[in-house]
Amino acid sequence: MSVGVVRVGLLGLGTVGGGVIKTIRSQQEKLSLRLGKRIEIVKALVRDSEKERAVHVEPSILTTNFEDVLKSDVDIVVEVMGGVDPTYDYVRALIEKGCHVVTANKELLAKRGTELVELANQHQVHLAYEASVAGGIPILSVLRQFLRTNDISGVRGILNGTTNFILTKMEAEQLSYQEVLKQAQELGYAEADPRSDVEGFDAMYKLYILAQLVYGESLPLADVVRKGISDLSAGHIRIASELGYRIKLIAQAYQTDEGIRLSVQPTMLPLGHPLAQIQDAFNAVQLSGNIVGDLLFTGRGAGELPTASAVVEDLAYLLTQPFTPHPVWRENTASHLAAQPEASQRSLCYLEGSCPSATPDRVLHFLRAAGVSISKLKVQFDLGGVLRAGLITSGLNEEHEALLTSDFGLSVRRFPILESAES
Ligand code: NAP
Ligand code: HSE
Repeated sequence: MSVGVVRVGLLGLGTVGGGVIKTIRSQQEKLSLRLGKRIEIVKALVRDSEKERAVHVEPSILTTNFEDVLKSDVDIVVEVMGGVDPTYDYVRALIEKGCHVVTANKELLAKRGTELVELANQHQVHLAYEASVAGGIPILSVLRQFLRTNDISGVRGILNGTTNFILTKMEAEQLSYQEVLKQAQELGYAEADPRSDVEGFDAMYKLYILAQLVYGESLPLADVVRKGISDLSAGHIRIASELGYRIKLIAQAYQTDEGIRLSVQPTMLPLGHPLAQIQDAFNAVQLSGNIVGDLLFTGRGAGELPTASAVVEDLAYLLTQPFTPHPVWRENTASHLAAQPEASQRSLCYLEGSCPSATPDRVLHFLRAAGVSISKLKVQFDLGGVLRAGLITSGLNEEHEALLTSDFGLSVRRFPILESAES
């Protein structure tokens, strides 16, 4: 490294890249004192160098050619451009050149992390990625450095800020899904392609990274159960609230006798559950260790400054710590059961349809005769065969769902219920 100055390159200068520049500028004096080095941004790769940006940078710093970054003698590169192609090739080339890399890119880590970690170890450079999971919450460092003795039985959380923001606003302000998604994009929470947020991919990548740190291995990514929130309506949210629940996109990883199970899905939480209190773009991670017991971490999960905070803290860390090899991740290729809710698990079942046979009495009679237990019923709408209702059930399975559709013309949406903080 150059004496007194650390030469940093950026891949990407959007929401997070802009936040990184603002943070380095606003904290420069303190960082120089604490690190004994000045951080200088020497190159920033963008797609369009003419674009108007939220932060001013000297035009000479901007480039649209990756080779300029590679040639510019940088010590560290901050990758905040996203995606896997061409990002993987760029990160690989930088590591091979001996650059430390800090990244916020969960998709890259979930899909190609194993290879990049091995490569970084081989070249003895840091690959730091705290910003990739749960925004400003330093959960990966906690797992890597401060929970080495505890056996972690499972990890659960709200890992996507955009969807939590959407669900919060849809419930609290009765705004439409599209309206709130637009706000989330304007606030810089959403991914460049917001389908990654609303279809649960982003939370799945983060869960996968967490699970690899917790278990040292993970399921093949394709085996993770993933359901998003794009088909959730105001009706689902209202009925949940009328029955005493709140819908959250919950990511969970836990060990069973059959192996590790990972799932991301809209889930009903009793209003008193700690995760039900996590609102707006906040994230939360719940862990349980055999020595420490239950832990809950919460903080801002998306946006310019919370994410820049994690990136700059990674920078500061690697500038003060010698290289130590990162534990190499393994993918567990043994066959696993998918993490579907058990049939006996309680769930909130939302029914909607218009068919003369679909009266609440007939539906209840059918379900009870089929052995499904029903503890609560809320009818939102019952107008001459037009029915919209929510039921709290145990024992409802896919066969029952199919019969509700074929015999009563009802569309069925079943949400698992998290019973309590410990369940
Ligand atoms: P963004 O606002 O869309 O910015 C992406 C930047 O990368 C832009 O400057 C873009 O250039 C540049 N870029 C993209 N593809 C490129 C290519 N092929 N060649 C050259 N430049 C390219 O995205 P962001 O929200 O900052 O997110 C960046 C990364 O951080 C993603 O991996 C995301 O998942 C992760 N992250 C984001 C947040 C958040 O809250 N936003 C939080 C945690 C992690 P132009 O500006 O010229 O278009
Ligand atoms: N789009 C992501 C989210 C950014 O909303 O959580 C933070 O990783």
